[in-house]
Amino acid sequence: MRIMNLNLRNRIVIAPMCQYSAVDGCMTDWHLIHLGHLALSGAALLTIEATAVLPEGRISYADVGLWNDETEAAITRTLSSIRRWSDIPIAIQLAHAGRKASTEVPWKPPRWYPPDDPLGWQSVAPSAIPFSEGAPTPTALDRDGLRRVRDAFAAAAIRAERTGVDAIQLHSAHGYLMHEFLSPISNHRTDEYGGSLENRMRFPLEIFDAIRAAFPAHKPVSARVSGTDWIEGGWDIEQTIAFAQKLEEHGCAAIHISSGGLHPAQKVPAVPSYQVPLARRVKAAVRMPVVAVGLITGFEQAEAIVATGDADFIALARAILYNPRWPWHAAAALGAHVKAPNQYLRSQPVRFKDLFTME
Ligand SMILES: Cc1cc2nc3c(=O)[nH]c(=O)nc-3n(C[C@H](O)[C@H](O)[C@H](O)COP(=O)(O)O)c2cc1C
Repeated sequence: MRIMNLNLRNRIVIAPMCQYSAVDGCMTDWHLIHLGHLALSGAALLTIEATAVLPEGRISYADVGLWNDETEAAITRTLSSIRRWSDIPIAIQLAHAGRKASTEVPWKPPRWYPPDDPLGWQSVAPSAIPFSEGAPTPTALDRDGLRRVRDAFAAAAIRAERTGVDAIQLHSAHGYLMHEFLSPISNHRTDEYGGSLENRMRFPLEIFDAIRAAFPAHKPVSARVSGTDWIEGGWDIEQTIAFAQKLEEHGCAAIHISSGGLHPAQKVPAVPSYQVPLARRVKAAVRMPVVAVGLITGFEQAEAIVATGDADFIALARAILYNPRWPWHAAAALGAHVKAPNQYLRSQPVRFKDLFTME
């Protein structure tokens, strides 16, 4: 399938995955190892983790950023090494963590860092409502704050182009800043950015427009959304469909349907393919390609999602960390072909004679 100028070899997308291994926002050798091996996976598209457009937009002190020359150079260095050995299309997820910022990395005991801690900072949000009990209270963004965030997304999009990425994904899911504007649970504003659905969508759409205007017109800009908050009275699939249609009008090239993350009271039915029904609903309402994600681990399971038309692509996160050659095994199981690097061609099992296509 083609999405604008991107030729996608199959229907497997690698979902963005924070590695919490950056230093001052700069990618490290870990990112070269991590993205490097995923670049050899045979997937159609590799998405770089949530990349903060401002330092205070990081989830933790170890998040990747793209807000100055140093952070840009670190991504450029990583991507130019990968590009030497793989032509996999690469997207970057541009993000702002909003009120869920200033936390510990997930493999350490959970904690929020207050602004006066050397590892913390003051978080921002649409309204001064903390994520949970014990979480710091964010500062509600005023006009200058909104402008600063908008300008930061536009500047990061310009930098992203210089790093050599093929596409941008706007992170509007999982309870981070864009989603905080969308959901009535986290957005209690009384200005033109709060209240009605139209008002709550206004800031995320402005951000989308700022990115779209700053990134080359022939390259795709997509979005990732939460299809529901899984909370009564919160963001839901009907509002998601309205947002998806607006995004499409604004030139969005594809939409990736995840869910949840806005509030600790969420009740997520985490069973295989649990978010696919949300993707199916959006797919019926838009023309742009739709990506389904969430507990998709089996080859037949993935094939069925695409073959029945529930979604155009499936995205993998945990399954491809566990098995970075998942697309090779899927191709073998389903009698398809996959592109493998020349250096690994001799690994083709004898029983799968035509599995590999050459570089
Ligand atoms: C280690 C890890 C890091 C993640 N980081 C991000 C991220 O940076 N941006 C994002 O939108 N989702 C992130 N997610 C969510 C995944 O992209 C995905 O939506 C979720 O894990 C469900 O898919 P799965 O069942 O295939 O793992 C992360 C998930 C994992 C496991």
